[in-house]
Amino acid sequence: MSESAAVPLPPEILNRYVESFLSRKEIYLRAARDNGTPLYVFEPEILRRRAARFMDAFAAVVPEAMVFYAVKSNNHPEVARTLAAAGLGLDVSSGEELKLALAAGVAEIVFSGPGKTEAELSLAASRRDRVTVLLDSFGELERLNRIAGGNSPVRCGVRLTTDERALWAKFGIPFPALADFFRAAENFPHVRLRGCQFHTSWNLGPENHLACLKKLGRVLEGLEGRFREEIEFVDIGGGFWPEEGEWLHRPDGGQVNPDNRERDPREHFCRPAAPIEEFAGPIGRTFQEEILSRTSARLCLEPGRWICHPAVQILLRVEDKKSADLVITDGGTNAVGWERYESDYFPVINLSRPSLDEFPCRVLGSLCTPHDVWGYSCHGGDILAGDILLIPDQGAYSYSLRQEFIKPIPRAVFRQPRGRRSG
Ligand SMILES: Cc1ncc(COP(=O)(O)O)c(C=O)c1O
Repeated sequence: MSESAAVPLPPEILNRYVESFLSRKEIYLRAARDNGTPLYVFEPEILRRRAARFMDAFAAVVPEAMVFYAVKSNNHPEVARTLAAAGLGLDVSSGEELKLALAAGVAEIVFSGPGKTEAELSLAASRRDRVTVLLDSFGELERLNRIAGGNSPVRCGVRLTTDERALWAKFGIPFPALADFFRAAENFPHVRLRGCQFHTSWNLGPENHLACLKKLGRVLEGLEGRFREEIEFVDIGGGFWPEEGEWLHRPDGGQVNPDNRERDPREHFCRPAAPIEEFAGPIGRTFQEEILSRTSARLCLEPGRWICHPAVQILLRVEDKKSADLVITDGGTNAVGWERYESDYFPVINLSRPSLDEFPCRVLGSLCTPHDVWGYSCHGGDILAGDILLIPDQGAYSYSLRQEFIKPIPRAVFRQPRGRRSG
């Protein structure tokens, strides 16, 4: 997580946010009635709007920018199809994701990730008409060359390591090794090295992207002219945080101790993030200065979270009310695959008793583990068995991490314009 300081979440921002869901409550209540709960409600219209805003923001500063949606952030095939139809490419990180992207009918795919297997490289090579392989190491360069064969070489880039300490060292090669990588690639006829990529995560503002672009600019300055001329793309990855920022139970981002009755569960904190246009402006200018002054590379981006975060809501029903401040829902947090709400705050919104009032209540799922927590408070007039609750903005790194654990995975429905839906 980002290290920037959290500030108290302003109540007017929280109220406006909750109100935006209450104003659409009939749509969600109908979805729960028609399909049952627990339920993921996917909203393709939101996906399309987010994609358009993201693309517009970067096209305004770098006209040739190309956006690849990071499939890992939400791997429902319909999400990939919707975004492919909206003009995005797809960024995949495994053979399974690659198959999904190929089936989505997208024209351009980038395949990144460490430790690609021979089967994965072979699949990528068999679809070289659409796939660019972002190589992760010198060994992978050699393996792909051996596997690829064929008449036309496989278009590739190389991933650069953004942090050589500790665990992030597992990704890519160090920036200063770029020249050696180009030289090595000259010996491999089935590979055509045409660009490079880096990725940083959880960015609340553009600083990390700018620092990496400047570092790459210095490396490009020292690169032989013949290699510079071959660079067709620079892919700056994803990691753009949605502008609501990170909402937390505690200012340090840690987990709540639910036994601490002194803490008011209506106290929330926020690490604010920049709107996407405030990422795009400085990134575009720095890209011009550092990269376009030295190459004719196309800017590529791989946003995941920023695109799909607001496009899925989770609906639950209160199954059991055990006391005034403890309810159990029909769905468990296996729907999101991790103990997200022990540290992250997302309002639990009671659609059946709409109100902007927030009251303390432990809203817990029905898995046989005490870590199955949706929240420690609820927005509503009250909360009773049978009420329908909404957990908002669960599009990113929730559905993809779902797991078959004790309870089944909820059904997913797609909300179509004019109220039509499909399974
Ligand atoms: C290589 C790469 N690109 C893009 C992404 C998407 O990141 P985000 O969802 O934060 O935009 C990730 C996420 O881990 C990644 O590893």
